[in-house]
Amino acid sequence: MRAAQYDRYGDPSVLYVGDAPMPGAGPGEVLVTVAASSVNQIDATARSGSARPATGFRFPKGTGVDFAGEVVAIGTGVVDLAPGDRVWGFLPGLPRARTAAAAEFVVSKRRHLAPAPTAIDLVDAAGLAMVGVTALVALRTYANLQPGGRLLVRGASGGVGTVAVQLAKAMGAHVTALTSGDTLDFVRSLGADAALDYHTHGPSSLGTFDAILDLTGTRLAAYRALLAPKGRMVTTATRGIPYILFSTIFGPRRVRAFVVSPRSELLADLAGFVDDGALKPVVDKVFPLEQIAAAHRAIADGGVRGKVVVTL
Ligand SMILES: NC(=O)c1ccc[n+]([C@@H]2O[C@H](COP(=O)([O-])OP(=O)(O)OC[C@H]3O[C@@H](n4cnc5c(N)ncnc54)[C@H](OP(=O)(O)O)[C@@H]3O)[C@@H](O)[C@H]2O)c1
Repeated sequence: MRAAQYDRYGDPSVLYVGDAPMPGAGPGEVLVTVAASSVNQIDATARSGSARPATGFRFPKGTGVDFAGEVVAIGTGVVDLAPGDRVWGFLPGLPRARTAAAAEFVVSKRRHLAPAPTAIDLVDAAGLAMVGVTALVALRTYANLQPGGRLLVRGASGGVGTVAVQLAKAMGAHVTALTSGDTLDFVRSLGADAALDYHTHGPSSLGTFDAILDLTGTRLAAYRALLAPKGRMVTTATRGIPYILFSTIFGPRRVRAFVVSPRSELLADLAGFVDDGALKPVVDKVFPLEQIAAAHRAIADGGVRGKVVVTL
């Protein structure tokens, strides 16, 4: 099968489309023919080699965690899916195996995927799976966002942010989005009640919030100070780990962090938001698999609104 791979760590130019062995579904697993994958920051991190203690030195490696496609075969113990079913999901952890989701076929544990939303096509679905579950878990579980709650999203125009703004509105929150100047109207169009340029609006000018979703990992102390007494702040960016640890001394007002895991019930919840019309995919650029290096370059260049998707 065709698969995006690389033989050494480096910039996006190390990526190529290779010929890899066809995978098979073991017990509890599903073989999926991939319609599309998407590029996440975790793919760039793995490819660059900055996580090499975790990703190791065995090459070739595959890239891509998100996938949307159709079931080809099921392993023993999978009773609720059949060939032809549309599914979506993402692979857990850092992509470090010989092939990953940016490939013609991917094998996933049944519990890591779910039926895809019916209201959108599989190309759009591939851009939502991982960032969507991340935003959902961040807002619902870690930020404990409530109807009427005031939420600040830092990084609102990116992959997680574009979903978070929409989900938060669907949950009945008041959303203030921090983003760069040329994306203010764009994040308002996603439903944000207020959109502010982070280059000109520092934390001291923003007011107080019941929840803060940080997608940058920077200046966490200054933003944590904006929390209302029972407010919660959550970050997804690992850059903030030293402050996250320090913040435990603040007890309930510590900064929370987590690493997202694929779970079929969360993907099913997310599909519900899509099929109810509350969540629309935001795909900025689509590349064929052969242009996997250009897809990674688009992420590295910045300024992406939502997601970059790779089609098979
Ligand atoms: N913990 C987990 O399980 C998990 C899961 C998913 C993602 N993540 C991490 O979460 C972070 C966000 O992911 P993503 O997919 O949304 O990334 P992304 O698509 O690259 O979006 C990040 C956004 O942050 C904006 N930004 C940068 N500096 C900012 C600042 N100072 N204030 C406000 N906005 C700023 C960027 O906008 P401009 O280009 O306009 O600056 C960009 O739109 C990444 O670090 C990613 O690795 C973690």
